[in-house]
Amino acid sequence: MATVLITGANRGIGIELVRIFSENDWTVLACCRKPEEAQALADLASKSSQIEILPLDVSDATSATNLAEMLKDKTVDFLVNNAGIMGGERQGATDMDFDAWGEAFRINTMAPLRMVQVLLTNLRRSTSPKIATISSQMGALNRESAGAYAYRSSKAAVNKVMQTLACEMAMDGFIITLFHPGWVQTDMGGSQADITAVESATGLFNKMAALTADDNGRFYKWNGEEHPW
Ligand SMILES: NC(=O)c1ccc[n+]([C@@H]2O[C@H](COP(=O)([O-])OP(=O)(O)OC[C@H]3O[C@@H](n4cnc5c(N)ncnc54)[C@H](OP(=O)(O)O)[C@@H]3O)[C@@H](O)[C@H]2O)c1
Repeated sequence: MATVLITGANRGIGIELVRIFSENDWTVLACCRKPEEAQALADLASKSSQIEILPLDVSDATSATNLAEMLKDKTVDFLVNNAGIMGGERQGATDMDFDAWGEAFRINTMAPLRMVQVLLTNLRRSTSPKIATISSQMGALNRESAGAYAYRSSKAAVNKVMQTLACEMAMDGFIITLFHPGWVQTDMGGSQADITAVESATGLFNKMAALTADDNGRFYKWNGEEHPW
């Protein structure tokens, strides 16, 4: 049975990814900041022996190395960097919360690479290691739109980080991808969004489970179509 590790697994798209991976016979390492408060995830895990809940704040180096220590000697076949934040209320050209912008970079841009670093030994134990990072169409340079400077720039940057990593790690057999999950009805996306978290996670899973070496370094939409950079 293959193992997937999912960050930000307690709500939104993350918890639906936990559900669908586990329903498809994956072992799921479901990581969240506060397991003691993650009731919905605990309920899900109580119905499936394949789900293990682990503590992880992706922006905290100690938390990440503690997780790696807990997983020593385990194989991780698939890392899904899902945890993300918008980056504060004030992110306009003339009114910017720069501290919140920094936090957006720490969580949305730097943490995905940190997770790869701390889990590299676990991923290398897999016969076909894969990494998918949930980015956003809001980080695509081809899409001209106003506002949300912190969020857009953090997602544009993680696209470049993962594209670069895909070039470097292809020879080692890694398959590294980015996904726009759709505009999704979650706390982040709001109730007016286009699709439900179940629809998004189902589409993401279908593409993630079918990835091949040809997909390395590519940016996809939740429905499996290629996303322009
Ligand atoms: N919803 C959309 O329309 C949409 C569109 C494009 C891209 N995305 C991306 O999709 C991903 C999931 O978004 P969502 O809509 O499911 O958002 P959400 O409902 O707001 O959930 C965000 C998740 O990220 C976790 N998280 C935030 N900071 C963290 C940290 N430092 N360490 C660990 N976990 C952390 C949250 O945990 P806590 O509960 O502890 O805060 C929560 O589990 C994000 O990367 C987001 O940028 C979403």
